[in-house]
This record gives sequence, structure tokens and C-alpha cells, in this order.
Amino acid sequence: MSTAFPNGFLWGAASASAQIEGAYLEDGRTPSIWDTAKKKQVKHGENCHIACDHYHRYKEDVALMKEIGLKSYRFSISWSRVMPEEGRINEKGLRFYSDLVDELIKNDIEPMVTIFHWDMPLWVYKKGGWLSEKIVPLFRDYAKVVVDALSNRVKWWMTINEPGCFIMNGYLQGVHAPFKRNYLALSKLTRNCMLAHAEAVKVIRQYAKQKPMVGVAFSSGAYVPKSESEADIDIARKKSVETGNGLMANRWWMDPMILSKPVKAYGIFSSKEKDMAEICQPLDFIGLNIYSSFNYGDWGDTEKAPEGTPRNSLGWVIDERVMYWNVRFIYERYHLPVMITENGVAANDAVSLDGKVHDPNRTDFLYRYLKELKRAIDEGIPVLGYQHWSIMDNFEWAEGYDPRFGLVFVDYSTQKRIVKDSAWEYSRIIQTNGSCLK
Ligand code: BGC
Repeated sequence: MSTAFPNGFLWGAASASAQIEGAYLEDGRTPSIWDTAKKKQVKHGENCHIACDHYHRYKEDVALMKEIGLKSYRFSISWSRVMPEEGRINEKGLRFYSDLVDELIKNDIEPMVTIFHWDMPLWVYKKGGWLSEKIVPLFRDYAKVVVDALSNRVKWWMTINEPGCFIMNGYLQGVHAPFKRNYLALSKLTRNCMLAHAEAVKVIRQYAKQKPMVGVAFSSGAYVPKSESEADIDIARKKSVETGNGLMANRWWMDPMILSKPVKAYGIFSSKEKDMAEICQPLDFIGLNIYSSFNYGDWGDTEKAPEGTPRNSLGWVIDERVMYWNVRFIYERYHLPVMITENGVAANDAVSLDGKVHDPNRTDFLYRYLKELKRAIDEGIPVLGYQHWSIMDNFEWAEGYDPRFGLVFVDYSTQKRIVKDSAWEYSRIIQTNGSCLK
């Protein structure tokens, strides 16, 4: 087995507009549903109005990416920055993304665009948001604006980030914007979201100015088998992609979007055969956001883990084996090349007396998860790249600014950036194309 990762492997990092940009009312932008979250809905009453002020500091941030040696950078577009109201294109907002893309390319960093990463414009929400079918043509128009402006330089596209997550958190459990609890609307929400995704795929294919690579970033997950016997692997495989948590996390979304197969869940929810031809549009890769295994419950609910189990600062269990099994089970079922669109760890990072940020836990995490990814690659699974979550500490949605996921530390009072030790280790991994992991 070669110790290196495949040639051209895209070593990168990821972010999302609402989590880093700030400048929430600047240059014609209008608020998103996250900007208008109430104090009691976000920890410590925090908000994302300024966040990392990346809107003004993007050049400095790209320079840090270059210093670390990133080959790619996955970021998302703020819909309300480029379309502050229905039918109106905001040239100043588009210019920000265009300049960011130029800056990345100038620094030999491949731009990867997520069209929607949760920050729905308030004006779209007022028209019904994901509950209304009106969102489908609105999303199509928005995608077209972005594709027209950026596709001469952007090749990599993800239509939507973690549909399962924002529908579950935002519309069913009410813990993310728009803070609704409406379980019974699951089939409708899902259908609108999948149709919007399909429209965006068609728009990218029709209008892109170069051959695009199109995918979705799913919040995926899997069970780690109890042992590597065929029987145990088979049990884990079934629970990962068919039943158990795997039904809602993976199959509910991926079967219609990738295999054109409708799915039923809990006897009352289903996708419909008649929508499949529209929903299932050809994809070039499957984006997987991988954090925790399902073994002790779903993502947040890991109460059943034995005492002392390693966890990140949000309480999510750290078990690197999920990286291998998740990639393997998903590839076996969907046969699409895989891009790790997110993977990372929240820690209680702080600046030490020497002015540096020492984060050995993140370095250890990186080594552990990347070695498991390499195992999948060595078994012949096409993995195109790895986008670490996140390039910098940022606004962790309803958890505010306490959890720090970044490779770069952000002091929110001064906006000073400090490259963490783990980022320098990541840099070494990138320079050796993964050979130093062995
Ligand atoms: C999301 C990110 C988020 C990260 C850590 C993913 O679910 O796409 O926006 O910050 O996980 O929670």
C-alpha cells in the first residue's frame, strides 16, 4: 500500500457564510433567519452579526490558508447578500464572492461553493420557507445568479448543506432557526428541499461555464461494527444505511436524490414515486460531513456512551473508526466518489502564555480520522478530498461562540487570528500528501 494519498487529493478546510462573514446589513444585504434569532435562542444571547468579520478580512484569511498550504476551501454563499429581496440581484454582494474566488485562485486554492448553508433570507422565510413549494423556483433563480457570476472560475459545487440537519433542527425540533416544531410537515419539507436541490443541479449543469463537479454535503453517520466478522459488519451496514439512525440520516435523503427510490419512514412519512424522476439528478460526488458514530445514539444524543468516553467540547463522542465505516457503507450503496465535506472537533482552545494556541487534541483527532480515511482509500474507494471543519473558530449556531472548531483561533474581541498548532500539523500532512500519517 502506498503511504501517500491519491495524486491531486484536495486537502482543504470549510466554513459557512453565516458562521464567519458578519457584515450582516452591509452593502445592501438583508437579514437571514439566523440574524433575527432571539437572544434566548442562542447560548449567552450571542448572534452572528459580526462573527469573524470575514467579509472585511477575507484577504488576511486567504493568506492564512495559503500559509497552512490548503489546496481547497469550501465556503457558502449568503443568499440575502446576493438577493436581498425577491428578484433583485445585489451586485455588491456578488462582488464579495467574486473577489474571494479571485483571491483563492491567486493563491492556488481551489474554491468549492455551497449554495445553501442554512442562512435563509428572511424574505424567503416570509414566503413560507421550506414549507412552501414557492421555494423551488426561488432557489432555482438564486442558484442561477450564483452560477452566472462564479462558474467561470468555480468548478466544485454543493447545492445544499446537510438537509437532514436543518430540517430536523430548524423545523422539527425547534432548536435552530427558524425554531419551529412541526414534525408532521416532514414529508412536505423534505420534498421541497429535494426539488430545490434538483433545480440547482440542473441550473449548474445548464449554465456552468466549465465542466462542473456537482454534489450535496450530507450530514452522514454510521455504526461501527462490534467486530470485523461478516455478521457484525452486516448488522452495522443495515443500521447505517437502511434502518436505525441510518434511515433518517442517510437513506431518507440519499435514496431519492441518488438512486431515484422513494423511502417510507415511521409508517406516516414518505417520498413519492412520482417525484423521483425530478429529484434524482446526476451527481459527480457525494459530500459527507462526518463527526460521530451512531453507536451511542444519534449525533447529539450520546448519553449511553460509557463513562470517560472521549468527547468533543459539545459532548459528541470521538470515535475515528466511523470515518472508515461511514465512507465504506455509503460507497457500497451509492457508488459515487466521496468528498469529505466536513470533519473536525470542537475543543476548549485558549491562547497560552506564550501567545500560541496548543491544541494537541485536534492534532490527535486529525491523525486518527485521516488514518481511517486512508484505510477506505487503500481498499479502492475513490475519495476526492478532505475539507476540515473549520478553517477558523466561528459562530456555532445555537451554541454561539463557545465551541471552537477552527484550525485558526479567533479572538472575537479584537478579531486577531492565531494559527493553532494543529493547523501546522495539518500543513505537514498536506505537504507530505498524507505520508506522515503512517
Ligand atoms: C454544519 C456546520 C457546523 C458543524 C459543527 C455541521 O453540522 O454543517 O455548520 O458548524 O457541523 O456543528
